[in-house]
Order: sequence, then C-alpha cells, then structure tokens
Amino acid sequence: MAFPITRPRRLRRTETLRRMVRETRLAPDDLIHPLFVCPGRDVAKPVASMPGVAQLSVDRALSEAREIHAAGVPAIVLFGIPDHKDARGTEAWSDSGVVQRAIAEIKQHLPELAVITDVCLCEYTDHGHCGVVSGAEVDNDATLELLALEALSHARAGADLVAPSDMMDGRVGAIRRALDENGYAQIPIMAYAAKFASAFYGPFREAAESTPQFGDRRSYQMDPANGDEAMREIALDLEEGADIVMVKPALPYLDLIQRARTEFNCPLAAYNVSGEYAMVRAAGLNGWIDEDRAVMEILTGIKRAGADLILTYFAKTAARRLRP
Ligand code: PBG
Repeated sequence: MAFPITRPRRLRRTETLRRMVRETRLAPDDLIHPLFVCPGRDVAKPVASMPGVAQLSVDRALSEAREIHAAGVPAIVLFGIPDHKDARGTEAWSDSGVVQRAIAEIKQHLPELAVITDVCLCEYTDHGHCGVVSGAEVDNDATLELLALEALSHARAGADLVAPSDMMDGRVGAIRRALDENGYAQIPIMAYAAKFASAFYGPFREAAESTPQFGDRRSYQMDPANGDEAMREIALDLEEGADIVMVKPALPYLDLIQRARTEFNCPLAAYNVSGEYAMVRAAGLNGWIDEDRAVMEILTGIKRAGADLILTYFAKTAARRLRP
C-alpha cells in the first residue's frame, strides 16, 4: 500500500515513537576500550594525533580502567610500549613487562573488568614489524612460537582473552595449542582475522611507537580490495580455534562486517581504529561536526552492519552517554 495510505513519517513524529521502533540499540556492553601502557609511574604522555588518548603508566592505566569500568564498559584491550626493543621483541613475553604488570594490577583491583591483550610483536621489535625479520621478509613460521610465548605470558599474568593482531598464517592454531598445553584451555582467542593494510593505523603507530623502520605491512596484512579473501581468513581462524573474529578497520569495511555476520555464526568484533578516531576528533575540535552525534552515529552504524563488539577509543565517553 503506497502513499497516502502508507506514511513512514507517522512513526518518526515523537522521540517515544522513534524509540519504540528503533532497530539497532547500542549498549555499553558492546564496547571495548583500548589502552596504551608504558613504563614509569604517574606518566600520562598524550598522543598528538589522538587528542584525549595518552600512553599511561601502570598506575595511571589502573585509574583509567576504573573510569572505563564505572562507565559500564565490560572490557579493555591492552597494548604495551616496552622499555627496550630488540630484533625478536623479547619484552613481549617478559613476565615483568608493562602489559603483564598492568594485567595483574587491573585484575587485582577490578576483577569484573575483562582484560584483553593485543598479541603482536610490532610494539616490541626494533624494526617495528609484527614478526621476526629475515633478510627483507617477515618470517611467518619463526614468528609463531614467539606469539605463542607472548600469549602464554599474558595468560599467566591473568588476561581474560588474548587477541592476536599480527596476521601471520597459523598463529591462532599455534596460540591455541600453547594455551591448551599449559593449562589455559579456558582462555578465549579474539582473532584479528580480516585485518587490512590500512592508512587508518597511522595515529596508533605514533601511540604504540610501532612504525615499521623499513617497508610496510602489505606482505602480511590484507589488500583493502579483497572481500572474498577476508571471508577465507575468517574461516581459517575459526578452524584454528578462534572464539571471536574481527574485521579491522571498521568504516571502510562495513560491507565485510555485514558479510561476516551472514556467513559465520560466531561472535564478531569490529575495530574502529585510531585514524577513524583521529578524523572525528579533528573535525569535532574544529567545530566542523557535532562530535557527540557523529560518534553515536558511527558506532550505531558499525553495530547495524553486524558487529557484536566494537573496539573504540570512544568507548568510555559513548558508554557514559548511553547510561540512563
Ligand atoms: C598491532 C596493531 C595495530 C593496531 C592494532 N594492533 C597496528 C598495525 O597493525 O600497524 C591498529 C589499531 C588502531 O589503529 O587503532 N599490529
């Protein structure tokens, strides 16, 4: 039945009616807040390209985690900036590393807050690549055992979930085996399954001090043009034992979030990455857009596309706005 019988505007007349027929509802439980942990005490070193985000020492990370938890966000994901970088990224699996200490501290004081750790070597290697370098190449298989050591060390420190973001082939299986063989069969893996070689990671690399010193990440991260391959990557990670799979970044890949939602029956995460955050903040701070509304629209759009979980630097502020 067409106009004038049917008038879609009837249900848009009041906020109550709009609320009643709203299809997608963003909730604090959908959100995961990333934190950058650095050495020292009482350190909060602002990240220039991410206004509002700072590298935090363990004590300051705990205070921030408290605020995130109080806002109703159920989880954080930790990235570490180590004291010392080397070719193999050995601090990544040091039981006294910054991330390991942050996990222990946060779990002790905020046991209900889920602590997820990013499992990758790029923050820990002096060359900035996500794996072991041999010649001009990143050696896939030699990297797997190091990632497994890192994931194990996070589990020992008390992490609730581990999240490999390196894009080496076979890493989910290698990490799953290492966890299972060492008494951590109950720790889930959130795999950065379809992670693209993206310009939108730029600000993160400033935050994590992880810019590759030569070349780029295109031999391991995905070509932005490839959707079928993204589905194959997700299928492989699920076969290897991933419990949650992720599409990253979010906004240029909403079609793939939707495709993953329909093709796979599993929890799906999307990463609203640093460059996406930086663009919105820059426009907001300049008064060019209404930032609060833009953030809610973006997060709602990512959820509407099919994501169950959204990693976002806006998690705390968005959750505060969502609370009754
Ligand atoms: C580590 C990693 C990166 C991000 C998450 N984990 C950077 C990269 O791959 O270069 C990006 C997150 C963001 O941009 O917010 N490999």
